[in-house]
Amino acid sequence: MSYFSETEARSIIRDTYGQVHSDGVAVAEALYSTEELDRLPRGAVTFALGVGHPVRHAALKPGETVLDLGCGAGIDTLLAALAVGPGGRAIGLDMTPAMLERAREHVGLIGLGNVELREGLLEELPLPDASVDAIISNGVLNLSTRKSRALAEMVRVLRPGGRVSLADLVITEALPEEVLKSPAALAG
Ligand SMILES: C[S@@+](CC[C@H](N)C(=O)[O-])C[C@H]1O[C@@H](n2cnc3c(N)ncnc32)[C@H](O)[C@@H]1O
Repeated sequence: MSYFSETEARSIIRDTYGQVHSDGVAVAEALYSTEELDRLPRGAVTFALGVGHPVRHAALKPGETVLDLGCGAGIDTLLAALAVGPGGRAIGLDMTPAMLERAREHVGLIGLGNVELREGLLEELPLPDASVDAIISNGVLNLSTRKSRALAEMVRVLRPGGRVSLADLVITEALPEEVLKSPAALAG
């Protein structure tokens, strides 16, 4: 059971990520290699807000189309775009306009022509059925108030044989009520 309606939860999450500040390089340095970070604009590195490295496990190949759910400022979208190359396509999707704005700036700085950024929700993906080869996501699914709907949308847009590589938080014991009621805890 959730203490927040879907509308309330989305508004809290959008506000939180709309105002989030760059937090230095500690997160990125813990998750990515120096070689990877050296290829990216500094802003994409300092705005890394994930919990793992989904691109590393996605087995991306040149020419593929990859979708990054909750792309934030774009660190994994950019790494995915580099992996699929100019003949492939990386689509970064996020519901927070301010994060997409940052991602857009970082795409411009690195000069990649194979990235598309889209505003949208995990639970209502603005993509046709069977249109992507791989889905990546980093620290996002835990924020969804309708996780089964988000998973069903992933299945819908994946091509037959498509792959999903998710990095996320897993709760192994019940959370106390004060945490469940906290907007700050909801938004991570
Ligand atoms: C913890 S940040 C992770 C950003 C990025 N994946 C990274 O690794 O830096 C979570 C991101 O997911 C987005 N987000 C949260 N819930 C979402 C939803 N239901 N649909 C689309 N985006 C969502 C937020 O706007 C935020 O940019």
